[in-house]
Amino acid sequence: MARINDNFLKLKAGYLFPEIGRRVKAFTEANPEAAARLIRCGIGDVTEPLPEACRKAMHDAVDEQGDSKTFRGYGPEQGYDFLRDAIADNTYADLPISADEIFISDGSKCDSGNILDIFDPGNTIAITDPVYPVYVDTNVMIGNTGEADENGAYEGLVYLPCTAENDFVPAIPEEKVDIIYLCYPNNPTGATATREQLTAWVNYAKENNSIILYDAAYSAFIQEDDVPRSIFEIDGARECAIEFQSFSKNGGFTGTRCAYTVIPKDLVGYAEDGSTHPLHGLWSRRHSTKFNGASYPVQRGAAAVFSEEGKAQVAALIEGYMGNATLLREACQKIGLPVFGGVNAPYVWVGCPEGITSWDMFDRMLEQANVVITPGSGFGAAGEGYFRISAFNSRENVEEVCRRIEENLG
Ligand code: MLT
Repeated sequence: MARINDNFLKLKAGYLFPEIGRRVKAFTEANPEAAARLIRCGIGDVTEPLPEACRKAMHDAVDEQGDSKTFRGYGPEQGYDFLRDAIADNTYADLPISADEIFISDGSKCDSGNILDIFDPGNTIAITDPVYPVYVDTNVMIGNTGEADENGAYEGLVYLPCTAENDFVPAIPEEKVDIIYLCYPNNPTGATATREQLTAWVNYAKENNSIILYDAAYSAFIQEDDVPRSIFEIDGARECAIEFQSFSKNGGFTGTRCAYTVIPKDLVGYAEDGSTHPLHGLWSRRHSTKFNGASYPVQRGAAAVFSEEGKAQVAALIEGYMGNATLLREACQKIGLPVFGGVNAPYVWVGCPEGITSWDMFDRMLEQANVVITPGSGFGAAGEGYFRISAFNSRENVEEVCRRIEENLG
C-alpha cells in the first residue's frame, strides 16, 4: 500500500492563484462578452517583453549550443561563474557577499519552498500575516504544522500580524521562534521595512539562534533612498539570514525562469546533538542532488541584466511598472479608499469599501469592472478587508483599470 503524505490533506482548497484562475474561467465562460474586456491585475506576472539585451544573450547562447565546439552539457549545479560573479559584482557590489555564496536556480518560489529540506520539522516557524502563500503551504506539505482552523490559520505556525497600524512590518515576537520568513518590499502589501526594523529582526535572530528567510524578489522596485535592498545591508545578517532574489520581476523572467539564493558561509544551523553545521554546505549538497542547474541560455540571459544595455532596459521596465503603480494608487485614493504600497513595490494594497469582504470585492471587480484583482484574505486572515492590485500590466490597460475603478467603485 503506497501511503501518501497526509500533510497534503491539510492544505486549504487550491493554491490562491489557480483558484483565482478557476473563478475567472467560470465567469468568462458564463459571460463571453465580458471575457474580451477582462484585464488581469491579479497574479503579479509581468506583461512587457524581455529586455533586448537578455534576448540577444539567449540567442547567442542557443547558437553556441548548436556548435560542437561551443556546446555545453550539464553545467555546475550551483550556477555558472559568469552569472554568480555578475550578481556578486552588481546586486552585492558593496556588501560582504562572495560569488560562491550565490546559488543559481530556476525560481525563488522553488527555492523558498525547497529550503525546508535542510531544516528539521521540529522548528518553530514564524510567518507574517498577510503573506505570500508559498511559505505557509510548503510548511504544511512538509509536516511543520497541524490542521488549519476556520480562518485558515495553521496550528503550530506563529503568525505575525502586519496591519496598517504597524505599517505592515511585524513586531518582534515575545516568544522564541527558529525560522522567520520576511519579504520586503512586501508581497502582498507593497510595504518596505526600514533599516532600524530589519536591524531589530537581525538582533532578535542572533540572540535566539534563529534564521531569517528573507525574500527580496522585489528589491529592484525600491525608489526611495535608504530603503534596504538586501538583508545583508544589516550588520550581523551574515550570521542569521538567507536571501532569495529573482530575475522574474525586474528582468521579466517569470516565463523564462531564473533566480538565486544567497547563503553566507558563516551561517550555521544546529544538529540534534547541539553541534553546528554550515547551511551553505547542506544547501549545496541538496542542490547538487536534486537539481542539475538552470539552463545555460537562461543563465546567459540573466547575466545580460547586468550589462550596460541590460541595466538601462530593466530600469525602463521598472519605471513603466512603477508609473502604473502611481496611477492605480491615485485612482483608488480618488474614490476615498485607503491605499498602501505601490511606492517601492509593484503592488498596491487597498482597503475594501466599508462592509465588503475581500472575496466580495474580487467578485465585484470581476463582474462589474471586468478587472481581476487578488483578494487580501487569500494571503491570510489579516488580509481580510483588503485587495491587491498588481501594477504589472501595459500602461493602456492600467489607465483603463483606473477608469473602471472610478466608474464602478466611485
Ligand atoms: C504574486 O502574484 O504574488 C506572485 O506573482 C507570485 C509569485 O511570484 O509566485
